[in-house]
Amino acid sequence: MRMVDLIEKKRDGKELTTEEIQFIIKGYTDGSIPDYQMSAFTMAIYFQGMTERERADLTMAMVESGDQIDLSKIEGIKVDKHSTGGVGDTTTLVLGPLVASVGVPVAKMSGRGLGHTGGTIDKLESVPGFHVEIDNNTFIDLVNKNKIAVISQSGNLTPADKKLYALRDVTATVNSIPLIASSIMSKKIAAGADCIVLDVKTGAGAFMKTLEDSRELARAMVRIGNNVGRKTMAIISDMSQPLGFAIGNALEVKEAIDTLKGEGPEDLTELCLTLGSHMVLLAQKANSLTEARQMLEKAIQNGSSLETLKVFLSSQGGDASVVDDPSKLPQAKYTFELEAKEDGFVSEIVADAVGTAAMLLGAGRATKESEIDLAAGLVLRKKIGDQVKKGESLVTIYSNFENVNEVKEKLYENIKISPEKVNPPKLIHEEITG
Ligand code: URA
Ligand code: CA
Repeated sequence: MRMVDLIEKKRDGKELTTEEIQFIIKGYTDGSIPDYQMSAFTMAIYFQGMTERERADLTMAMVESGDQIDLSKIEGIKVDKHSTGGVGDTTTLVLGPLVASVGVPVAKMSGRGLGHTGGTIDKLESVPGFHVEIDNNTFIDLVNKNKIAVISQSGNLTPADKKLYALRDVTATVNSIPLIASSIMSKKIAAGADCIVLDVKTGAGAFMKTLEDSRELARAMVRIGNNVGRKTMAIISDMSQPLGFAIGNALEVKEAIDTLKGEGPEDLTELCLTLGSHMVLLAQKANSLTEARQMLEKAIQNGSSLETLKVFLSSQGGDASVVDDPSKLPQAKYTFELEAKEDGFVSEIVADAVGTAAMLLGAGRATKESEIDLAAGLVLRKKIGDQVKKGESLVTIYSNFENVNEVKEKLYENIKISPEKVNPPKLIHEEITG
């Protein structure tokens, strides 16, 4: 096989065989196919697309390019959740203990990553003593015993995707549905999930800005999952404004604790119950979506999901007393209120700009080497549709810097107030099933 012939074949809109796709991914991973040929190939995919069969083959070729996590020693059906990313998305911190408390095994491998806030691990590390440096056997034992554990990403997972994603980033080929869908799905499958629940975000703060694009991506991922034997479904949820109120690491841990107490923001609670019900159903712990939801609501009401959180934290060295006393979480030196300059209704909270404001306070990493300030961040006091009076607080800013003028300016520019009544955006747009 020659790469040049395969580029030509895709360029002309023909379908590649399984063997041809495997040849390309193997050759690119081991370096025998150079970046310039792979660039031409991804551009051909960008314009010609890929059939459903090609997408599944590409995904599995990337899965097979590196290590795969073996979760077979964990009892039960392992359901993983993946979000395509948003601002202040606290769902993982809530969903883990929530579904674990009704018996769904949560074996989470997580990373740190770049972004407006840290990743799940950074957030959890705001609990004093909590750590994810546990070995594989301990990880598996903890999931079997407590139904939940988190381990830091290790091993060589989907090296083909790592290389390809970096190449796409500099060749204007990130934005291709078959490439995005196979990239995301390959990582989930390599991480060992039996079933996958996808939270595909839509709106200004999301990777996909329109409902049409989000739907297309969701469908593509659901088909890949089901075609390779992993039951997969997707929810399309709103990310035109940040989710919940808190954006920041310790602040989001507190928000997750509140939500598990039944006192969390309405949107975050609803999204977690929706995603969680599908996870419980896929894990075959309930016979219907209605039953699954009732189990989760009960676990919040009777305190069992909060108890699961405490056991999870203390099993990995964390001080579980933060659950009853969140003031033991890292606290910022200063707080400031962003006061509304006029009366009206909140009409817009531009999610990614507000995320950037949190990052300016130190809540996220700009580069891999940046230090995270776990205490820093924002708590929204108003969401889209809320009435506001001049002088009322729109946002509380938590900072270890004394001067937050730049942050305030950015927030004023991106939180709009209208004199007319505004309807809040719909939270859950669609469910996509195989
Ligand atoms: N996120 C991924 O992991 N891969 C993509 O291609 C796009 C977003
Ligand atoms: Ca939040």
